[in-house]
Amino acid sequence: MTPRVAIIGAGPSGMAQLRAFESAARAGHEIPDIVCFEKQADWGGQWNLTWRTGLDEHGEPVHSSMYRNLWSNGPKEALEFAEYTFDDHFGRPISSYPPRAVLWDYINGRAENSGVKKYVRFSTVVRWVEFDEQTRQFTVTVEDLESRETTSETFDHVIVGSGHFSTPHVPYFTGIETFPGRLSHAHDFRGAEGLADQDVLLIGASYSAEDIGVQAFKMGARSVTFSYRTAPMGFPWPEGMEELPLVERFEGSIAHFANGESRRFDAVVLCTGYLHHYPFLPSDLALDSPNCLYPDHLYRGVVSEANDRLFYLGAQDQWFTFNMFDAQAWYVRDVIMGRIALPDAAEQRRDIDAWRERFASLQTAGDEIRFQADYIRDLIDLTDYPSFDLDRVVEIFLAWKADKQDDVLTYRDKVYPSVLTGTMASVHHTPWLQELDDSLERYLSDPVDDEVATLVTEEEDRAATT
Ligand SMILES: Cc1cc2nc3c(=O)[nH]c(=O)nc-3n(C[C@H](O)[C@H](O)[C@H](O)COP(=O)(O)OP(=O)(O)OC[C@H]3O[C@@H](n4cnc5c(N)ncnc54)[C@H](O)[C@@H]3O)c2cc1C
Ligand SMILES: NC(=O)c1ccc[n+]([C@@H]2O[C@H](COP(=O)([O-])OP(=O)(O)OC[C@H]3O[C@@H](n4cnc5c(N)ncnc54)[C@H](OP(=O)(O)O)[C@@H]3O)[C@@H](O)[C@H]2O)c1
Repeated sequence: MTPRVAIIGAGPSGMAQLRAFESAARAGHEIPDIVCFEKQADWGGQWNLTWRTGLDEHGEPVHSSMYRNLWSNGPKEALEFAEYTFDDHFGRPISSYPPRAVLWDYINGRAENSGVKKYVRFSTVVRWVEFDEQTRQFTVTVEDLESRETTSETFDHVIVGSGHFSTPHVPYFTGIETFPGRLSHAHDFRGAEGLADQDVLLIGASYSAEDIGVQAFKMGARSVTFSYRTAPMGFPWPEGMEELPLVERFEGSIAHFANGESRRFDAVVLCTGYLHHYPFLPSDLALDSPNCLYPDHLYRGVVSEANDRLFYLGAQDQWFTFNMFDAQAWYVRDVIMGRIALPDAAEQRRDIDAWRERFASLQTAGDEIRFQADYIRDLIDLTDYPSFDLDRVVEIFLAWKADKQDDVLTYRDKVYPSVLTGTMASVHHTPWLQELDDSLERYLSDPVDDEVATLVTEEEDRAATT
C-alpha cells in the first residue's frame, strides 16, 4: 500500500514540503499519496494578505498577521530557495527588500512551476488529528468550509505546517481597559495610514514593534513610542521616536512607564508576540513551546519526540525562513520515504539536549544566526537539497544588522549579491521611506520610463484630436 501523508497548511513550509515530494517524483522515485489541507482559499500562509481581522468569512480565526505596507524585513538573499532563485523567477535583478506581494509572487511561482496545486485541498480546515496505537495511523478530521461537510481520512504520517505567528499573545496591563483610543494587537494591524498625526504606543521590542513603528513614522505619526520589557531595541531613533521601559499602568489615554515618565496616546498596538497553538492536536502531540530557536521535543527540529510519524515544519523562531523550511521539508521527505533512518528515542533525546544546550549558551544575535545556519547545514548534508554558502548568508545577515543599526529608516535601500547566482540586487527606483505604493506592479515598473510613456500617450492623444 502506498503510504499516505497529510500536510497541514500550505504556507511557505507546507509548499516547501510539496515541492520536496514533487522533486523526488520528478527524479523518478515513487512518492507517498499526499494531501495538503489549507484552510484559506489560496496558498502562501502569512504572505497571503487579507483585509479581514478577527474571524474570516467562514467564522475561522484569520491567519495572516501581515499588513498592506509590509516589506521584507530581512534581505531576500538570506531566504532565497537554493533550487529556484530570484533570477529564475524574475529574470532580472530586483532589490534586496521586496514588498510582500513580490515575495508572495516568488513562492507562488516556484509552487506553480512544480505543479503541486493538485495536492492541496483549499478552504479545508483540519479540525482534529488522532493517532491509533494499534494501526499506527492518524485519523485526520477536516471540514470543507464551502460545503461545511466534515470528513475523516487515515494517514500514515502527519506534517504540521500551520505556522506559529497567528494566535496573538495578549498580556494584561493594569488599567488598559480604560484606554479610549484604538487598541489592537499586531496580528490585527493592516496598515499604518490611519496612524497619521497620532501619538502611537507600541508595546514590545521585537520585529513587529520595530516594523509597525517605522511604518507609523513613515505614514506621518506625530510620535512613536516603544515600550520594552527586557531590553530596548537600541536603534538611533530619529526625532519623534523613542523607547521607554515597560508600561506600568494606563489611566485613560495616559500610559505610565516603569521609569516614572508618562505620555498621552491616541493608539496602542500590542506587539507582544504569538502563541504556539495547535487546536487540532491532543495535548500529548501538540508542541508546547515559547517562540525560540530550538523548541524542545523536536528531533532535528522537526520530528515529534512523542510520535516519530508526526513532524513540524517552521516551528522555530526564524532568522532563516524559506530556505530553512526547504531544508526541513527535504529531510522530512527522506525520513518518510525511508531514505533516512531515525535513531532510537534515547539518541534523539541526546541530540535534542545537545542542540538545546548550545541554544541556551547563545549570547548575541550573531550567535543565533550562526546557530540556525549550522542547524540548516546539518539537515542539508543529509539530503539532496542543493547546498549553498551558508557562511556567506550569515555575513549578509550580519551586514543587515549593522545597516539597521546605522539607520532603521533606510536599511531597506541597501543591496546584496545572491549567494547562489552572484547577481547583485538592483537599487529600488524609489527609496523605501518615500515609496507609498507597495504593489508588485509598481515595484517592477520603471517610473522614469513610465512617465515618458505617459507623456508620449498624452502627446499622441492631443495630436489625434487636433
Ligand atoms: C507580520 C509578519 C511578518 C513577517 N515578515 C517576514 C519577512 O519579511 N521575511 C521572512 O522571511 N519571514 C517573515 N515572516 C515569518 C513567516 O512566519 C514566514 O515567512 C512564513 O510565512 C512561515 O511559513 P509557514 O508555512 O511555516 O507558516 P504560515 O505562513 O503561517 O502558514 C501556515 C498555513 O497553515 C494554514 N493553517 C493553519 N491552521 C490550519 C488548519 N487547522 N487547517 C488547515 N490549514 C491551516 C494557514 O492558513 C496558513 O496558510 C513574517 C511573519 C509575520 C507574522
Ligand atoms: N516586515 C516584516 O518583515 C515583519 C514585521 C513584523 C513581524 N515580522 C515577523 O513576525 C514574527 C514575530 O515577531 P513579533 O515581534 O511579533 O514577536 P516576537 O519576536 O516573538 O517578539 C515578542 C515581543 O513581545 C514582547 N513581550 C512579550 N510579552 C510581553 C509582555 N507581557 N510585556 C511586554 N512585552 C512583552 C517580547 O519582549 P521580551 O523581549 O521581553 O521577551 C518581545 O519583544 C518574526 O518572525 C518577525 O520576523 C516581520
